[in-house]
Amino acid sequence: MARANDRLPPKRVLVVGSGGREHALVRSLLRSPQLPDVLAAPGNAGIAKDRVPCLPLRGEDVKSIVRAAREERCDLVVVGPEAPLVGGLVDALAEERITAFGPSAAAARIEGSKAYAKELMRAVGVPTGGYEVVHGRDQAVCALAATAYPVVLKADVLAAGKGVLICRDEREAMAAIDSLFVKRRFGDTAVVIEQFLEGEELSLLALCDGERALPMAPARDYKRAFDGDAGPNTGGMGSYSPVRGIDADHAEVLARLVHQPILDELRRRGTPYHGVLYAGLMMTAEGPRVLEYNCRFGDPETQAVLPRLRSDLLDLLERSARPGGLAGATLEWSSDWAVTVVLASRGYPDSDSRGDPITGLGAIDSLDTEILHAGTAERDGRIVTAGGRVVNVTGFAPTPEQARERAYAGVERIRFSGRQLRRDIAAHAVDRVEA
Ligand code: GLY
Repeated sequence: MARANDRLPPKRVLVVGSGGREHALVRSLLRSPQLPDVLAAPGNAGIAKDRVPCLPLRGEDVKSIVRAAREERCDLVVVGPEAPLVGGLVDALAEERITAFGPSAAAARIEGSKAYAKELMRAVGVPTGGYEVVHGRDQAVCALAATAYPVVLKADVLAAGKGVLICRDEREAMAAIDSLFVKRRFGDTAVVIEQFLEGEELSLLALCDGERALPMAPARDYKRAFDGDAGPNTGGMGSYSPVRGIDADHAEVLARLVHQPILDELRRRGTPYHGVLYAGLMMTAEGPRVLEYNCRFGDPETQAVLPRLRSDLLDLLERSARPGGLAGATLEWSSDWAVTVVLASRGYPDSDSRGDPITGLGAIDSLDTEILHAGTAERDGRIVTAGGRVVNVTGFAPTPEQARERAYAGVERIRFSGRQLRRDIAAHAVDRVEA
């Protein structure tokens, strides 16, 4: 394909992060008609196999990332994970006049502090569950005395999805309080005690340019470790997109309810929001309620959403970085379904297993099945496990049944010692179609 303007050198884009989300971002950027040069830091073995140079730098190492972006003459830095965003990477890049996709540290606080997110929602009337913020064991015990069960306890820190504890009764709540305030599992933190909400979860991500929220295709993710939503919370064990019953008009209505008021308020407070604002929603019998906001693309939602995007991601990310830059932008989507299954390593989410050789990765990537790496590394010419979530397998098809079948057919070919996965990803989507 010819470049839009052959006299210009290709744009250079640095993707920061090492997960399946970042591999999905890299693939989507490589599909841009602008044919950018894409780099990653630190990337993973799959990103390297896509011939994308991987710089051995951690996202949290703000100084080194800024130096690399300057030295590599990057036109755009796309920050995947929350920790560098909350740690001020976008601010540090802005000081060097390097364009970055993602919110400032002040705006990213919406994910960094669950108590701050709740205060924002309350200030602008976004529907959410009732809550109380407690700062120690005694306050927590007092608040719990007046609560109904189940109840949700959230550590007021970044915890990679693992800081949310759902307690079914007083005994579980006391054990959670002990773990949070006595054993200090997440360090010195306040805790948000929150009403447990029932319904179907929905992940609605919106591209934001400081002024306007442009909703993306809806997705559903699976946060619990085991089938039937059992076991501990994880970063996410699978996802699918689209979601039946949430068409583009409905997504617009939801974005006006839960994204736009937050954007307006953050702008009013002098901390305009650029990047992706991810609303984790519970669709309750009383209507939608926000469970949480994240300041970044979801993982593994992105692995199911971005391959369905038919618009130029690079153009959209650049426009999001400019105040009001998304004016007039629209998003085009494939009508196919995408179902993503995560393969995790032994012990995840409590621990992970590294160095186990992975087989079967080679011949699966095709038009209807995509393999995206997460915790992988190359050792002596072999791909091995290098983290909790290891590989994502996405099936694409005109129906959720077929997309699911393709994803699980791909899963069967990939093996490593201690491999764990959920077998019920998107089963619900299939059931609903049949109903
Ligand atoms: N899938 C949940 C998250 O990205 O936080």
